[in-house]
Amino acid sequence: MTTRRLVLTRSAAIVGAASTGLLLPQIVRAQGNKVRVGLMLPYTGTYAQLGVAIENGVRMAIQEKGGKLGGREIEWFKVDDESEPSKGVENASRLVQRDKVDVLIGTVHSGVQMGIQKVVRDSGTLCIIPNAGAHAATRALCAPNVFRTSFTNSQPTLALGKAMVDRGHKKAVWITHKYAAGDEAFEGFRDSYTKAGGTVVKELGLPFPQVEFQALLTEIAALKPDAVACFFAGGAAAKFIRDYAAAGLKGKIALYGSGFLTEGVLDAAGPAADGIITTMHYSDSLDTPRNKQFRLAYATTFRSQPDVYAVQGYDSGQLLVQGAAAVKGDLNNKQALYKAMESAVIDSPRGKWTMSKSHNPVQDMYLRVVENKENKVLGIAVKALADSGAGCKMG
Ligand code: PHB
Repeated sequence: MTTRRLVLTRSAAIVGAASTGLLLPQIVRAQGNKVRVGLMLPYTGTYAQLGVAIENGVRMAIQEKGGKLGGREIEWFKVDDESEPSKGVENASRLVQRDKVDVLIGTVHSGVQMGIQKVVRDSGTLCIIPNAGAHAATRALCAPNVFRTSFTNSQPTLALGKAMVDRGHKKAVWITHKYAAGDEAFEGFRDSYTKAGGTVVKELGLPFPQVEFQALLTEIAALKPDAVACFFAGGAAAKFIRDYAAAGLKGKIALYGSGFLTEGVLDAAGPAADGIITTMHYSDSLDTPRNKQFRLAYATTFRSQPDVYAVQGYDSGQLLVQGAAAVKGDLNNKQALYKAMESAVIDSPRGKWTMSKSHNPVQDMYLRVVENKENKVLGIAVKALADSGAGCKMG
């Protein structure tokens, strides 16, 4: 039965190829096919803008190198993951099983990422994480086919604690969306803040994607800490900044954050954002030719200002271009592909970075302050910060 089907299939293929005059060896035909690139990102909800910025960045990096991957054209597949963790496995399976993508680029939300992680670990599909910082993805659940171009959730906040204590803010309230991203960001904050001599007087939170901050802001006013530190991103960050000012806290209790707080939201937040200090692996105002060239090209192409998400998307595109070039477009040559991606030096608008052993960027963390709708760099808070990669058994 198996033999018969094989014979039939083969002869059908030969008839097909012969009738179009293309009697080429299998391998050449396979390489001539388009590379199937899947984008699994949020295009609706709190993180919708983040998804768009990432896609823009990915496309721009590939376009700059001729719009192909290792000489092959690209076919794009897109899924809106809605930042909905309960649909993570199903959405990732659509791209991997139904669309048979060669690479899945996704996603933003850590909870959804866990679904992707399951699917790509099972299938062995190449995955590039352009944002979600879920620790497990490059720690206990690390995998040879999974690469992250963004950060782990505790990386930015590991740089935050000392900066706050240095400014005399020794008692802080922490507030966040309660899910992996916020909880892991807290780990980095708590560790760096207490090590520098600060005390976390209270942890506050609300479920993602709720944005009813009022009761929590009233509680902060009553607690009277020296400072507030937080994790919020996207639409929620813009609202938190505005509500913080509207509650009369701006200028009274210093507001700090993981840098996502002030990424992509400065138009929406307006003057309420001025003076917020954050730590992040990128800053709009980095005074390097590379960053300036990137910002100009992005603004010209997309008629909007790039942010850290655009940079992470751009670096995902750069990583893929480099990997595909090393194997001349044969993405099935996994050993050589992964080796090239592992040893890539990414010439990023954020500054050059490399992959850690567990496939997460080793990168500088900048201290920034918001001034006139821009994240201005104040200096490097931590140089070449690597995630611990704890529990990753690979290589
Ligand atoms: C995450 O869920 O991992 C996440 C989402 C948005 C951010 C950063 C991290 O800006």
